[in-house]
Amino acid sequence: MRPHVTVNCAMTADGKIAGKARKQVRISSPEDLERVKRLRADNDAILVGINTVIADDPNLTVKGLDPAKNPLRVILDSLGRTPPQARVLDRAARTLIATCDECEAIWPNVEVVRCGKEKVDLRKLLGLLADRGVRRLMVEGGGETIWSFFEADLVDTYLVFVGSEIIGGRTAPSPVDGEGFEDDAMIRLELLDAVRLGNGTLLKYEVLRDAAH
Ligand SMILES: NC(=O)c1ccc[n+]([C@@H]2O[C@H](COP(=O)([O-])OP(=O)(O)OC[C@H]3O[C@@H](n4cnc5c(N)ncnc54)[C@H](OP(=O)(O)O)[C@@H]3O)[C@@H](O)[C@H]2O)c1
Repeated sequence: MRPHVTVNCAMTADGKIAGKARKQVRISSPEDLERVKRLRADNDAILVGINTVIADDPNLTVKGLDPAKNPLRVILDSLGRTPPQARVLDRAARTLIATCDECEAIWPNVEVVRCGKEKVDLRKLLGLLADRGVRRLMVEGGGETIWSFFEADLVDTYLVFVGSEIIGGRTAPSPVDGEGFEDDAMIRLELLDAVRLGNGTLLKYEVLRDAAH
């Protein structure tokens, strides 16, 4: 069985996950940052796309909690662009880089799996993760990665923190970028919860499979 997939991201009040320079901006409130840390600890693996690694250089750990709770870090990187000095390659937690069949890149202390031709094949990757004991996967972004999970119908829970900022910009990324669905094929969600966390709101949705597509 594939892992349960939770998408988690933070967007501004105008629906952007970063500014037009595509660099990390602080959107989450301190309360939300704490929640994200606990959510990471509750998942077996956290996944991001390579553009997020390059733009934000996240460490994807549960700093301040028991280091044994650090989930496996998973990077989608078809062309082997993960920089050798990236924080996700430090020894704080295990890391798996998912790349394409033709990519020959290797990194020290990292498991590399090759699945897919031009992009990483997400369904195959989830199978490989399940084989490694991953039951719960958290997808943290960015917009292209989240789109691919929705497009492949692989999202179960969607969590979005809505901060209290406006950043604007036609080209600033949003939680779900990619090509987008045709109007009649959009994904339908059920709102499960809305909770104020400091100066923002956490929205929790379940993906409605029967109504989608
Ligand atoms: N606010 C938030 O919650 C949050 C969280 C995370 C990121 N961000 C922001 O998001 C932005 C980066 O997002 P992004 O959309 O540009 O990129 P991204 O989702 O981080 O990475 C996308 C890249 O991953 C690789 N990839 C490989 N297989 C893929 C697949 N099956 N599906 C999708 N991608 C695949 C592709 O590059 P290759 O072809 O080279 O492999 C693709 O271009 C940054 O500005 C960052 O700050 C915000």
